[in-house]
Amino acid sequence: MVKANGNYLKLPGSYLFSTIGKKVREYSAANPEAKIIRLGIGDVTQPIAPAIIEAMHKAVDEMGNAETFKGYAPDLGYEFLRNTIAENDYKARGCNIEADEIFVSDGAKCDCSNIQEIFSLDNKIAVCDPVYPVYVDSNVMAGRAGDYNAKTETWSDVIYMPCTADNGFAPQIPDKTPDLIYLCFPNNPTGATITKAQLQEWVDYANKVGAVILYDAAYEAYISEENVPHSIYECEGARTCAIEFRSFSKNAGFTGVRLGFTVIPKELKAGDVALHGLWARRHGTKYNGAPYIIQRAGEAVYSAAGKEQLKAQVAYYMNNAKYIYEGLKGAGFTVSGGVNAPYIWLKTPNNMTSWEFFDYLLEKVQVVGTPGAGFGPSGEGYFRLTAFGTYENTVAAVDRIKNAGL
Ligand code: MLT
Repeated sequence: MVKANGNYLKLPGSYLFSTIGKKVREYSAANPEAKIIRLGIGDVTQPIAPAIIEAMHKAVDEMGNAETFKGYAPDLGYEFLRNTIAENDYKARGCNIEADEIFVSDGAKCDCSNIQEIFSLDNKIAVCDPVYPVYVDSNVMAGRAGDYNAKTETWSDVIYMPCTADNGFAPQIPDKTPDLIYLCFPNNPTGATITKAQLQEWVDYANKVGAVILYDAAYEAYISEENVPHSIYECEGARTCAIEFRSFSKNAGFTGVRLGFTVIPKELKAGDVALHGLWARRHGTKYNGAPYIIQRAGEAVYSAAGKEQLKAQVAYYMNNAKYIYEGLKGAGFTVSGGVNAPYIWLKTPNNMTSWEFFDYLLEKVQVVGTPGAGFGPSGEGYFRLTAFGTYENTVAAVDRIKNAGL
């Protein structure tokens, strides 16, 4: 008789943002007149920039013409996009990454959850705590996380690296040696970053112990400070220990369009196996390539007009981040993040738990954020607000929180 994958049954509850979505829908159904402001999931609100729309229209027209029509895309991505990425995201920053080390996909979430497939099940993973839940959940689904302890809200085979106010929300090298190290900077959810020198320490450590760093750089466009690296390949030695994930969701508003890429240098090995070849095999078998129209849209992100328009879009969201940060700080909240990232990490007031604060804000002032506890045990007592709302909603949400009677 058929059996379900028991690993899935180990997962407690549903995906964090699905749980939040459900709670908000239920509240909304019970209070249809409520004007809810959603600053929970990091979903963008500004429309796709004109230069990108223009490229998409052109590509749509090409698809309607027999001479220019495209069928299946090359499974690792079109050359025009891979070359543009290599030039703009890597060579321009002095990183030695070639176009054929870039694998185009439909987004960083899929890639950073699927990447674990090319590693042995007995590899130990290390994650920051709090952490983007996809890294842990995808390893649970694969059967690599061990057993869940409901009391500590941790998995027996996962190494947690607490990121707290005491360490500036920066992970420390763990006592136990991991095989796979998930790092995300600028960080989701805390909005914190580490300097290039700090990241270099991780690269040196990974090379020393033979670990691979899975580096999620989805928020790099939000970096405003000089000494913060945009790519792990800015560090010496990263080509032999790091895989990098990038997304077009946050820098170009592609959350609904879907495009991302993963970089695997040719030198990167697990034992004597080149990981580039394994991921190429996985991509070729399980993926048919991001759509041509979307890859042309991605190319336009790097055009002169695209860059100019997206710079303005990022500035718009960062202005929201500043407004939230300063508004709540001024009102006596303890806040961090928001300088190199579109997330504000806020200490819950009056010793409320994260979910108590979530419910309080939803019910009292109809503002939705993300409870820190949803990202891991060290997120308890914290709350994440996203800067991806409209400016008007951001201002209204901050005013409402200030007047929530806390
Ligand atoms: C988040 O809110 O953490 C992100 O939007 C989720 C994602 O990028 O998948």
